[in-house]
Amino acid sequence: MKIIVAQDYQELSRIAYGFIKDVVSANPSAVLGLATGSSPIGIYDLMAEDYAKGEVSYRNVSSVNLDEYVGLPATHNQSYRYFMQHNLFDRIDIAAQNTFVPVGTAKPQQECQRYDDLLESLPRDIQILGIGNNGHIAFNEPGTPHDSGTHIVKLDDSTRAANARFFANINEVPTHAITMGIKGIMAAKKILLVATGASKADAIAAALRGKITTDCPASVLQNHKNLIVVLDKAASAKISF
Ligand code: GLP
Repeated sequence: MKIIVAQDYQELSRIAYGFIKDVVSANPSAVLGLATGSSPIGIYDLMAEDYAKGEVSYRNVSSVNLDEYVGLPATHNQSYRYFMQHNLFDRIDIAAQNTFVPVGTAKPQQECQRYDDLLESLPRDIQILGIGNNGHIAFNEPGTPHDSGTHIVKLDDSTRAANARFFANINEVPTHAITMGIKGIMAAKKILLVATGASKADAIAAALRGKITTDCPASVLQNHKNLIVVLDKAASAKISF
């Protein structure tokens, strides 16, 4: 595991973006595993900026996202498909048919199977990950088995509360999500975990320095052979070096 502590969010985003740029420069047909949440937005801004300067093209790149709320259509402004279109896809030259996000309005079980098949046919060169305050990765909440494939989850109250800021009120936050499983996440060749802010410090300490346990889903990342972690100072405050 490689841990990099950046001065601030801007530097964190620049460092994390560097890993994405390296992957796409080495392989113009790379498969990128992407994530939603506020943590990766700085990376997406830099991808869009570099693309606008003509430095990188995503013409032959594919992307696979981690998760989606059950029941939200792509057009809903809080759906993860909408987030990805707005924050990244509409700003670069990636082909629409090469961008994959679980479909929140599809038949749940069939969609899980479709997504696992997709993951097998599109091995990811790198997977961006954020982390929830309770140590969740994607929407794999505490207790999720390490061998889980894509599945439907009932969201933790704490996760719904954390995400309520994006909705009119907490009742609007969907109760379920479809998420890539831990097994699917771990199958990526490289994992890039980014976390920022003091509210993530406990989760980061448990994930990187704690026991590997389903109580902290992100702790499984310690088993990954190619894990890169980019933190800001506040998020790194509780880990020992
Ligand atoms: C959501 C997402 C996760 C994300 C987490 C943290 O629950 N499903 O993939 O990592 O929130 O989000 P943020 O980066 O906004 O703190």
